[in-house]
Amino acid sequence: MEIVCSPAAMAAWADTVRAEGGTISLVPTMGFFHDGHLALMRKACDIADQVVVSLFVNPIQFGPNEDLARYPRAFERDAELAAATGVAVLFAPTAEEVYPAGFRTKVSVSGLTETLCGVSRPGHFDGVTTVVAKLFHMVKPHLAVFGAKDFQQLAVIRKMVADLNWDVNIIAHPIVREKDGLAMSSRNTYLSGEERTKALCLSRALQLARERVAAGERDAARLREEILQYIIAYGDVTIDYVAIVDAETLVSCDTITAGSLLALAVRIGRTRLIDNTLLGGA
Ligand code: PAJ
Repeated sequence: MEIVCSPAAMAAWADTVRAEGGTISLVPTMGFFHDGHLALMRKACDIADQVVVSLFVNPIQFGPNEDLARYPRAFERDAELAAATGVAVLFAPTAEEVYPAGFRTKVSVSGLTETLCGVSRPGHFDGVTTVVAKLFHMVKPHLAVFGAKDFQQLAVIRKMVADLNWDVNIIAHPIVREKDGLAMSSRNTYLSGEERTKALCLSRALQLARERVAAGERDAARLREEILQYIIAYGDVTIDYVAIVDAETLVSCDTITAGSLLALAVRIGRTRLIDNTLLGGA
Protein backbone atom coordinates (compact mmCIF):
# COMPACT_ATOMS: atom_id res chain seq x y z
CA MET A 1 0.00 0.00 0.00
CA GLU A 2 1.22 3.44 -0.88
CA ILE A 3 0.88 6.36 1.54
CA VAL A 4 0.27 9.57 -0.38
CA CYS A 5 0.21 12.95 1.33
CA SER A 6 0.25 15.50 -1.47
CA PRO A 7 -3.00 16.25 -3.36
CA ALA A 8 -1.02 16.70 -6.60
CA ALA A 9 0.59 13.24 -6.27
CA MET A 10 -2.83 11.78 -5.46
CA ALA A 11 -4.39 13.28 -8.59
CA ALA A 12 -1.45 12.10 -10.74
CA TRP A 13 -1.90 8.53 -9.40
CA ALA A 14 -5.62 8.69 -10.21
CA ASP A 15 -4.91 9.97 -13.74
CA THR A 16 -2.58 7.02 -14.35
CA VAL A 17 -5.11 4.45 -13.10
CA ARG A 18 -7.84 6.01 -15.22
CA ALA A 19 -5.61 6.19 -18.30
CA GLU A 20 -4.98 2.45 -17.95
CA GLY A 21 -8.75 1.83 -17.81
CA GLY A 22 -8.82 1.00 -14.08
CA THR A 23 -11.70 1.90 -11.76
CA ILE A 24 -11.16 3.69 -8.45
CA SER A 25 -13.29 3.54 -5.33
CA LEU A 26 -12.82 5.95 -2.45
CA VAL A 27 -13.60 5.48 1.23
CA PRO A 28 -13.40 8.88 2.96
CA THR A 29 -12.57 8.61 6.69
CA MET A 30 -11.22 10.53 9.65
CA GLY A 31 -9.21 7.51 10.79
CA PHE A 32 -9.02 5.58 14.08
CA PHE A 33 -10.33 2.60 12.18
CA HIS A 34 -12.82 0.11 13.57
CA ASP A 35 -14.61 -2.77 11.88
CA GLY A 36 -17.16 -0.38 10.38
CA HIS A 37 -14.43 1.43 8.44
CA LEU A 38 -12.84 -1.89 7.45
CA ALA A 39 -16.18 -3.22 6.17
CA LEU A 40 -16.47 -0.14 3.94
CA MET A 41 -12.95 -0.79 2.64
CA ARG A 42 -13.74 -4.44 1.88
CA LYS A 43 -16.87 -3.34 0.03
CA ALA A 44 -14.79 -0.82 -1.92
CA CYS A 45 -12.33 -3.61 -2.86
CA ASP A 46 -15.22 -5.73 -4.19
CA ILE A 47 -16.51 -3.03 -6.53
CA ALA A 48 -13.42 -1.44 -8.08
CA ASP A 49 -9.90 -2.26 -9.28
CA GLN A 50 -8.15 0.17 -6.93
CA VAL A 51 -9.21 1.42 -3.51
CA VAL A 52 -8.17 4.73 -2.01
CA VAL A 53 -8.89 5.43 1.66
CA SER A 54 -8.59 9.04 2.69
CA LEU A 55 -7.60 9.75 6.28
CA PHE A 56 -8.15 13.38 7.15
CA VAL A 57 -9.56 14.81 10.38
CA ASN A 58 -11.39 17.63 8.69
CA PRO A 59 -11.19 20.74 10.91
CA ILE A 60 -14.01 22.63 9.18
CA GLN A 61 -16.68 20.06 10.08
CA PHE A 62 -16.08 20.48 13.83
CA GLY A 63 -17.85 23.23 15.77
CA PRO A 64 -15.87 25.47 18.18
CA ASN A 65 -16.98 23.40 21.21
CA GLU A 66 -16.55 20.02 19.57
CA ASP A 67 -13.84 17.37 19.86
CA LEU A 68 -11.39 18.32 17.04
CA ALA A 69 -8.39 18.59 19.40
CA ARG A 70 -9.08 15.30 21.18
CA TYR A 71 -10.37 13.33 18.16
CA PRO A 72 -8.61 9.93 18.45
CA ARG A 73 -5.65 9.34 16.13
CA ALA A 74 -3.60 6.17 15.44
CA PHE A 75 -1.91 6.62 12.08
CA GLU A 76 0.49 3.65 12.14
CA ARG A 77 -2.21 1.21 13.25
CA ASP A 78 -4.65 2.62 10.68
CA ALA A 79 -2.07 2.22 7.90
CA GLU A 80 -1.49 -1.43 8.86
CA LEU A 81 -5.21 -2.19 8.95
CA ALA A 82 -5.87 -0.52 5.59
CA ALA A 83 -2.94 -2.34 3.97
CA ALA A 84 -4.17 -5.71 5.30
CA THR A 85 -7.60 -5.01 3.81
CA GLY A 86 -6.27 -4.60 0.28
CA VAL A 87 -6.26 -0.81 -0.01
CA ALA A 88 -3.97 0.53 -2.76
CA VAL A 89 -3.46 4.05 -1.42
CA LEU A 90 -3.89 5.67 1.98
CA PHE A 91 -4.31 9.36 1.19
CA ALA A 92 -3.43 11.46 4.23
CA PRO A 93 -3.02 15.13 3.34
CA THR A 94 -2.28 17.81 5.95
CA ALA A 95 -4.79 20.53 6.83
CA GLU A 96 -2.47 23.10 5.19
CA GLU A 97 -2.57 21.16 1.92
CA VAL A 98 -6.33 20.79 1.96
CA TYR A 99 -7.05 24.35 3.13
CA PRO A 100 -4.13 26.55 2.07
CA ALA A 101 -4.03 30.14 3.29
CA GLY A 102 -6.71 32.14 1.52
CA PHE A 103 -9.12 29.24 0.99
CA ARG A 104 -12.56 30.83 0.49
CA THR A 105 -14.95 28.28 -1.02
CA LYS A 106 -17.79 26.34 0.60
CA VAL A 107 -20.00 23.61 -0.84
CA SER A 108 -23.39 23.72 0.88
CA VAL A 109 -26.54 21.63 0.46
CA SER A 110 -29.55 23.52 1.80
CA GLY A 111 -32.63 21.98 3.46
CA LEU A 112 -31.36 18.48 4.23
CA THR A 113 -28.62 19.97 6.41
CA GLU A 114 -30.87 22.12 8.60
CA THR A 115 -32.59 19.28 10.44
CA LEU A 116 -31.48 16.42 12.77
CA CYS A 117 -27.70 16.76 13.40
CA GLY A 118 -27.69 20.10 11.57
CA VAL A 119 -29.63 21.73 14.43
CA SER A 120 -27.04 21.11 17.14
CA ARG A 121 -24.06 21.12 14.73
CA PRO A 122 -24.52 24.25 12.60
CA GLY A 123 -22.05 24.36 9.71
CA HIS A 124 -21.07 20.70 10.19
CA PHE A 125 -22.51 19.46 6.90
CA ASP A 126 -21.02 22.36 4.94
CA GLY A 127 -17.67 21.18 6.28
CA VAL A 128 -18.44 17.61 5.20
CA THR A 129 -19.64 18.48 1.69
CA THR A 130 -16.74 20.87 1.15
CA VAL A 131 -14.11 18.29 2.07
CA VAL A 132 -15.84 15.44 0.23
CA ALA A 133 -16.08 17.61 -2.91
CA LYS A 134 -12.35 18.33 -2.63
CA LEU A 135 -11.53 14.65 -2.03
CA PHE A 136 -13.57 13.70 -5.10
CA HIS A 137 -11.50 16.12 -7.18
CA MET A 138 -8.20 14.93 -5.77
CA VAL A 139 -8.89 11.17 -5.90
CA LYS A 140 -11.13 11.15 -9.01
CA PRO A 141 -13.08 8.04 -7.92
CA HIS A 142 -15.67 6.23 -10.00
CA LEU A 143 -17.35 5.07 -6.79
CA ALA A 144 -17.34 6.21 -3.18
CA VAL A 145 -18.51 4.18 -0.17
CA PHE A 146 -20.24 5.77 2.84
CA GLY A 147 -21.78 4.19 5.95
CA ALA A 148 -25.49 4.30 6.73
CA LYS A 149 -24.61 5.05 10.36
CA ASP A 150 -24.25 8.69 9.32
CA PHE A 151 -27.54 8.54 7.50
CA GLN A 152 -27.95 12.29 7.10
CA GLN A 153 -24.38 12.64 5.81
CA LEU A 154 -25.14 9.97 3.20
CA ALA A 155 -28.35 11.75 2.14
CA VAL A 156 -26.55 15.11 1.91
CA ILE A 157 -23.70 13.67 -0.18
CA ARG A 158 -26.11 11.91 -2.52
CA LYS A 159 -27.90 15.25 -2.99
CA MET A 160 -24.65 17.11 -3.64
CA VAL A 161 -23.62 14.55 -6.26
CA ALA A 162 -27.04 14.64 -7.97
CA ASP A 163 -27.32 18.43 -7.89
CA LEU A 164 -23.81 18.94 -9.28
CA ASN A 165 -24.14 16.21 -11.96
CA TRP A 166 -21.14 14.52 -10.45
CA ASP A 167 -20.08 11.26 -12.11
CA VAL A 168 -19.39 9.41 -8.85
CA ASN A 169 -21.50 6.44 -7.85
CA ILE A 170 -22.35 6.69 -4.13
CA ILE A 171 -22.56 3.28 -2.45
CA ALA A 172 -24.12 2.87 1.01
CA HIS A 173 -22.88 0.29 3.50
CA PRO A 174 -25.15 -0.92 6.34
CA ILE A 175 -24.33 -0.03 9.96
CA VAL A 176 -21.70 -2.28 11.52
CA ARG A 177 -22.36 -3.04 15.20
CA GLU A 178 -20.59 -4.48 18.23
CA LYS A 179 -21.93 -7.87 19.37
CA ASP A 180 -24.22 -6.20 21.91
CA GLY A 181 -25.71 -3.84 19.31
CA LEU A 182 -23.75 -0.60 19.85
CA ALA A 183 -23.02 1.00 16.47
CA MET A 184 -19.26 1.14 15.96
CA SER A 185 -17.79 4.63 16.13
CA SER A 186 -14.35 6.13 16.65
CA ARG A 187 -16.01 8.18 19.41
CA ASN A 188 -16.93 5.04 21.42
CA THR A 189 -13.37 5.19 22.71
CA TYR A 190 -14.37 8.23 24.81
CA LEU A 191 -16.90 6.19 26.84
CA SER A 192 -16.14 5.07 30.41
CA GLY A 193 -17.25 1.56 31.42
CA GLU A 194 -20.53 2.86 32.87
CA GLU A 195 -21.16 5.09 29.87
CA ARG A 196 -20.48 2.18 27.53
CA THR A 197 -23.34 0.29 29.20
CA LYS A 198 -25.66 3.28 28.99
CA ALA A 199 -24.77 3.73 25.32
CA LEU A 200 -26.80 0.60 24.61
CA CYS A 201 -29.92 2.76 25.04
CA LEU A 202 -29.61 3.79 21.38
CA SER A 203 -29.54 0.38 19.67
CA ARG A 204 -32.06 -1.03 22.16
CA ALA A 205 -34.44 1.85 21.49
CA LEU A 206 -34.18 1.14 17.78
CA GLN A 207 -34.90 -2.53 18.42
CA LEU A 208 -37.94 -1.63 20.53
CA ALA A 209 -39.22 0.66 17.77
CA ARG A 210 -38.87 -2.06 15.13
CA GLU A 211 -40.80 -4.44 17.39
CA ARG A 212 -43.60 -1.91 17.85
CA VAL A 213 -43.84 -1.36 14.09
CA ALA A 214 -43.80 -5.12 13.45
CA ALA A 215 -46.71 -5.35 15.91
CA GLY A 216 -48.67 -2.79 13.88
CA GLU A 217 -47.74 0.64 15.30
CA ARG A 218 -48.07 3.32 12.60
CA ASP A 219 -48.50 6.51 14.67
CA ALA A 220 -45.15 8.33 14.52
CA ALA A 221 -45.88 10.76 17.39
CA ARG A 222 -46.89 7.95 19.75
CA LEU A 223 -43.87 5.80 18.86
CA ARG A 224 -41.52 8.77 19.18
CA GLU A 225 -42.86 9.51 22.68
CA GLU A 226 -42.42 5.89 23.73
CA ILE A 227 -38.82 5.89 22.48
CA LEU A 228 -38.09 9.20 24.23
CA GLN A 229 -39.37 7.80 27.54
CA TYR A 230 -37.43 4.57 27.02
CA ILE A 231 -34.14 6.45 26.57
CA ILE A 232 -34.82 8.91 29.41
CA ALA A 233 -35.37 5.93 31.75
CA TYR A 234 -31.66 5.03 31.35
CA GLY A 235 -30.87 8.17 33.41
CA ASP A 236 -27.87 10.52 32.98
CA VAL A 237 -28.32 10.70 29.22
CA THR A 238 -29.20 13.85 27.28
CA ILE A 239 -31.35 13.48 24.22
CA ASP A 240 -30.32 15.66 21.30
CA TYR A 241 -33.11 14.32 19.09
CA VAL A 242 -35.43 11.40 18.52
CA ALA A 243 -36.93 11.82 15.06
CA ILE A 244 -39.09 9.78 12.73
CA VAL A 245 -38.52 11.09 9.23
CA ASP A 246 -38.85 10.16 5.58
CA ALA A 247 -35.53 8.48 4.73
CA GLU A 248 -35.11 10.48 1.52
CA THR A 249 -36.33 13.97 2.40
CA LEU A 250 -35.52 13.75 6.15
CA VAL A 251 -38.86 15.52 6.78
CA SER A 252 -40.81 14.39 9.89
CA CYS A 253 -43.61 11.98 9.16
CA ASP A 254 -46.95 11.48 10.95
CA THR A 255 -47.56 7.95 9.71
CA ILE A 256 -44.93 5.23 9.65
CA THR A 257 -44.43 3.75 6.19
CA ALA A 258 -41.82 1.54 4.52
CA GLY A 259 -39.66 4.64 3.89
CA SER A 260 -39.68 5.89 7.50
CA LEU A 261 -36.43 6.20 9.42
CA LEU A 262 -35.98 6.53 13.17
CA ALA A 263 -32.87 8.60 13.91
CA LEU A 264 -31.36 9.22 17.35
CA ALA A 265 -28.67 11.47 18.76
CA VAL A 266 -27.93 11.08 22.47
CA ARG A 267 -25.21 12.48 24.69
CA ILE A 268 -23.71 10.02 27.16
CA GLY A 269 -21.53 12.15 29.41
CA ARG A 270 -19.47 14.31 26.99
CA THR A 271 -19.88 11.91 24.09
CA ARG A 272 -22.53 12.45 21.44
CA LEU A 273 -23.63 9.23 19.75
CA ILE A 274 -25.94 8.72 16.77
CA ASP A 275 -27.78 5.70 15.42
CA ASN A 276 -30.72 4.99 13.13
CA THR A 277 -32.90 2.32 11.63
CA LEU A 278 -35.41 2.03 8.85
CA LEU A 279 -38.71 1.16 10.52
CA GLY A 280 -40.06 -1.02 7.75
CA GLY A 281 -43.76 -0.14 8.19
CA ALA A 282 -45.98 -0.94 5.21
P1 PAJ B 1 -15.70 8.85 9.86
O1 PAJ B 1 -16.54 9.14 11.06
O2 PAJ B 1 -14.30 8.41 10.05
O3 PAJ B 1 -16.48 7.75 9.03
C1 PAJ B 1 -15.97 7.33 7.79
C2 PAJ B 1 -17.02 6.47 7.12
O4 PAJ B 1 -17.27 5.32 7.92
C3 PAJ B 1 -18.39 7.20 6.97
O5 PAJ B 1 -18.96 6.91 5.72
C4 PAJ B 1 -19.21 6.60 8.10
O6 PAJ B 1 -20.60 6.61 7.86
C5 PAJ B 1 -18.66 5.19 8.10
N1 PAJ B 1 -18.94 4.52 9.38
C6 PAJ B 1 -18.55 4.92 10.62
N2 PAJ B 1 -19.02 4.05 11.55
C7 PAJ B 1 -19.71 3.09 10.89
C8 PAJ B 1 -20.44 1.93 11.27
N3 PAJ B 1 -20.55 1.57 12.55
N4 PAJ B 1 -21.02 1.19 10.30
C9 PAJ B 1 -20.92 1.55 9.00
N5 PAJ B 1 -20.26 2.64 8.56
C10 PAJ B 1 -19.66 3.40 9.50
O7 PAJ B 1 -17.87 10.29 8.37
C11 PAJ B 1 -16.74 10.79 8.39
O8 PAJ B 1 -15.64 10.14 8.91
C12 PAJ B 1 -16.45 12.17 7.83
O9 PAJ B 1 -17.59 12.98 8.01
C13 PAJ B 1 -16.02 12.17 6.34
C14 PAJ B 1 -17.11 11.60 5.43
C15 PAJ B 1 -14.72 11.37 6.18
C16 PAJ B 1 -15.75 13.62 5.89
O10 PAJ B 1 -14.76 14.21 6.66
